[in-house]
Amino acid sequence: MKTIGIIGSGIVAKTLGTGFLDKGHEVMLGTRDVTKLSEWLSTSGPKAKVGSFDETASFGDIIVFAVKGTAAVTALGQIDSQLLKDKTIMDATNPIADVPPINGVLSFFTDQNTSLMEQMQSAVPEANFVKAFNSVGSAKMVDPDFETKPTMFICGNNSEAKKEVSDIVELFGWETEDMGSAEAARAIEPLCILWCIPGFRDNQWTHAFKLLK
Ligand SMILES: NC(=O)c1ccc[n+]([C@@H]2O[C@H](COP(=O)([O-])OP(=O)(O)OC[C@H]3O[C@@H](n4cnc5c(N)ncnc54)[C@H](OP(=O)(O)O)[C@@H]3O)[C@@H](O)[C@H]2O)c1
Repeated sequence: MKTIGIIGSGIVAKTLGTGFLDKGHEVMLGTRDVTKLSEWLSTSGPKAKVGSFDETASFGDIIVFAVKGTAAVTALGQIDSQLLKDKTIMDATNPIADVPPINGVLSFFTDQNTSLMEQMQSAVPEANFVKAFNSVGSAKMVDPDFETKPTMFICGNNSEAKKEVSDIVELFGWETEDMGSAEAARAIEPLCILWCIPGFRDNQWTHAFKLLK
């Protein structure tokens, strides 16, 4: 079974990390400060590990990227890119700007003709980025309890990497909708803005998207 290296120490990293552990994978969470993860580590069993960004990138057969959007390119630059060569990077980040929402609407530091994932793909062309899990809150990421399966929109340039992420998405109780190449992240990342509006306006944080056909 493939090992999972998750770059991040926040709620997304911990939620997906616990999800992978529950499905039987070995997981390492990567952070600049391992003390942040001592509670997660002590409650997560023998298959859970914590390390530096490089240790985590080296550990994972598959990498998950779950850092603050404004720091994503910087954090990526702190990892030895050879450790990411030919690996699938499941990218949950969103390019949320450090300003408050306006009437519930978040601001991005990207514009509609660029995406954060494309920036990261350009920064590390030897890795295979696939957008996923950016358009739902952490509470519903793993085994969501809806009456019907919600849809996870994914995109990326490498079809084997997308197959790997699609298998994870389905393992976690979702259906996958592949929207094509990395440029589709320009449409998938802003789903986060839409998803957050009911949260900021009405404190509703437990919905998910479904594509009807
Ligand atoms: N929260 C959600 O429900 C949710 C849902 C979908 C997608 N997302 C997206 O997922 C990502 C993670 O979200 P989150 O809420 O779990 O955590 P977060 O608070 O957005 O990010 C925490 C992570 O960012 C890293 N970080 C912050 N500043 C950094 C810097 N200057 N250099 C390097 N790393 C830095 C931290 O690294 P250290 O551990 O080293 O401090 C930590 O791992 C975000 O892009 C967010 O938009 C969040």
